[in-house]
Amino acid sequence: MPIYATEQGWMLETRNTGYALGLNRAGRLSHRYWGVRLPYPEDYPAAANPGPWASFDGSAHRMLEEYPAYAGASYIDPCLKATFADGVRDVVLRIDTVEQGDDTREELHIRLRDTYYPFFVTLRYRVHPDYDLIERRVTITNEGDTPVTLERVLSAQWHLPRGDGYRLTHVDGRHLDEMYVRREPLMQGIKILESRRLTTSHNHNPWFAIDRGCADEDAGEVWFGVLAWSGNWRLSTEVTELASTRVNIGINDWDFAWRLDPQQSFTTPSSYAGYTTGGFGEASRRLHDFTRDLVVPHPGEPRKVLYNSWEATTFAVDAQSQLVLAQRAAEIGVELFVMDDGWFHGRATDNAGLGDWWPDVEKFPDGLAPLIKGVNELGMDFGLWVEPEMVNPNSDLYRAHPDWVIHFPTRGRTEMRNQLILNFARSDVQNYIISQLDRLLSENNIAFIKWDMNRNVSEPGWQDADGDPRELWVRYVQGVYFVWNTLRTRYPAVIWQSCSGGGGRADLGILRLADQIWASDNTEATARLVIQEGFSYVFPPSTMEAWVTDAARDHISLQFRFHVSMCGVLGIGAHLLHWNEQQSAEAGRLVAQYKEIRHIIQFGDLSRLRSPQLHPFSAVQYVSKDRSEGVLFVFRTLIPDPVELPPLYLRGLDPHARYTVTGFEGPCSGQAWMHVGLQVSLNNFQSTLLRIRRI
Ligand code: GLA
Repeated sequence: MPIYATEQGWMLETRNTGYALGLNRAGRLSHRYWGVRLPYPEDYPAAANPGPWASFDGSAHRMLEEYPAYAGASYIDPCLKATFADGVRDVVLRIDTVEQGDDTREELHIRLRDTYYPFFVTLRYRVHPDYDLIERRVTITNEGDTPVTLERVLSAQWHLPRGDGYRLTHVDGRHLDEMYVRREPLMQGIKILESRRLTTSHNHNPWFAIDRGCADEDAGEVWFGVLAWSGNWRLSTEVTELASTRVNIGINDWDFAWRLDPQQSFTTPSSYAGYTTGGFGEASRRLHDFTRDLVVPHPGEPRKVLYNSWEATTFAVDAQSQLVLAQRAAEIGVELFVMDDGWFHGRATDNAGLGDWWPDVEKFPDGLAPLIKGVNELGMDFGLWVEPEMVNPNSDLYRAHPDWVIHFPTRGRTEMRNQLILNFARSDVQNYIISQLDRLLSENNIAFIKWDMNRNVSEPGWQDADGDPRELWVRYVQGVYFVWNTLRTRYPAVIWQSCSGGGGRADLGILRLADQIWASDNTEATARLVIQEGFSYVFPPSTMEAWVTDAARDHISLQFRFHVSMCGVLGIGAHLLHWNEQQSAEAGRLVAQYKEIRHIIQFGDLSRLRSPQLHPFSAVQYVSKDRSEGVLFVFRTLIPDPVELPPLYLRGLDPHARYTVTGFEGPCSGQAWMHVGLQVSLNNFQSTLLRIRRI
């Protein structure tokens, strides 16, 4: 049974992991254990009640509280901070009730109550046994008759086993340069990763992996987790003076406040976390499987090969020229034709039009229907770009509703890319955008929407808010989810893509709405290798849109560019009219090959064999779930002579089955391919794709 109770407390078990919590002798809900699943219930240690450390660190500070609130003599980075109406800023929580959720026995709700105020904190756990993941979120309820101000409400504190020598892996970057994998030792103190930008951001991602300093791709203990949230977030790792290590994760409390009125509740987003002994590779695969099966709206549906016109035409779109591109796209096997920016009212450059979501009459005098019909007649689905959260001051919408943007009345409105942010916390804004996009979707045969978001916040004011104006940070994201989800429910077949100037909004929150993410605006293939590798730590390849474009075409072959994009959901963004016959034919062959193997890439197990961030000779491998077939991509960028390329050791094969690998003598056992390896020869800026087949 995934969740059970003994006298010591509660045990949450997945296929391979165990997690235990319980009351210590002081009656405080404490963390007991998180790691490999233990054979017997009595193996799980009792909740500790440590004594004080001199007169400076009391017992409260030293105990492993499961969800510490700011109270008493504890200096731990807390999960919860609140101020009651009488000014008291100390939340003292004790256990109230415990419920084991639904009949699948996969949920546990532990309700804590403040010792004085009718203020409740419900810790909500859910185990995902097959994925070795535990989900945590929290609901705060005010059953009093005066408001309470919430100043911090995190989703979880994840405790690691006592010890030292831990190492944090995370990703960082910037626009056009996202998802660098970083590793650093954890030392005493707090390390904070966060977003204050209103969206998830290009700079960090709400994901962590912590190991004991020696895990690699294939082996070693790794504790990892994410936050499913697309707004400001905060992830902090704390190592205390007595070597207790914890991760706090949740909505960022920076500039945050929430007025919790009487009889109201506030629920945090979920944090999912897991433990594995299979290294970083297995940690990624656990998240991949979970996201593919239980998070995205269309699990199991193969993602289509798309063409996107942005890099070819930028804003210069009209039915005629798009149809010429569509014709070429269809010839090389594209299945989904997406028209990007530039199609709507008044949009000739980036200084006008956002907010006015109807076809520009000069470019599309008869609406979008003729183009869509043409695209459909070519055998392709049609997709469209929108940026619903934005408005240009030069738009009908802004002229009618200048008060709808996020702003402070006495301050300027900082424009970025000539645009301002609509306040999606407001219901009038939400309803307006729903009606505009609903009209587009109901009047046109649109199968795919790219939802973009091209700037970060400034002057985060919301003067006419009902509650605390600082609720904006959360209510905005809830508004985006609400609008998107309303449309998604009305048009369930539509596939959505999340883009924010590339990878600015990639997280498990948005993946509940979008099946695909545009990982970066940087489409240069060698840069992309690095970005894609970082992306793969967190997200499955079935969510990673990757286009073949003309970037660096003079020194990077079409095949290399294709191979890089085939590592995810293949798309094309090049100017197809600039390809000669031979290039188009080659593209057609590669698209056809991708269609043959995409089920392995999109839904198989991914292994990072050699990192492109660390090595100019890199490789990534995919193996189908039944281990009957696989694909290996190998890339060489620039390595000056003399060169001796290292062998590659395959992963994830059935050791006793026999496999062939394209171009290599065989068959050999899976064991041999994994332990003897194979020697791939490549010149600079060459790549290869090898098929692996069980016989
Ligand atoms: C952003 C996106 C691009 C493209 C442009 C259009 O930069 O990331 O892919 O859609 O907007 O303006």
